[in-house]
Amino acid sequence: MNKIVLGTLICGVAAFGAVNLGACKGCHGADWEKAALGKSKIVKDMSKAEVTKALQGYKAGTYGGSMAGVMKGQVAKYSDADLSSTGVGK
Ligand code: HEC
Repeated sequence: MNKIVLGTLICGVAAFGAVNLGACKGCHGADWEKAALGKSKIVKDMSKAEVTKALQGYKAGTYGGSMAGVMKGQVAKYSDADLSSTGVGK
């Protein structure tokens, strides 16, 4: 019983990647439907590839607008592999 619960938990985490997406929703909306701080693109309209490029770019300092620093703080602690497997985007 306990093993089954643990296995389910691990699979759940793997499926959603290591990035804590709950932390993003205050700015981007529960369904990624908001322009964060009135500034970002609507992330749910971006493709998965665009989201990956944006997140890795914020981390590297090669992507973004005037508020890129806000996003750099969000993603700097994650690996590029984590950032390419968030599952965010269409
Ligand atoms: C404090 C508010 C805030 C939080 C929390 C936040 N973001 Fe953002 N996000 C922004 C802002 C502001 C921008 C636009 C920055 C810019 O380029 O000027 C942005 C941009 C983005 C973009 C690119 C959209 C574009 O305009 O090109 C993506 C993708 C994104 N965020 C994903 C995330 C993810 C994933 C998380 C959680 C790990 C997250 N954000 C957490 C405020 C936030």
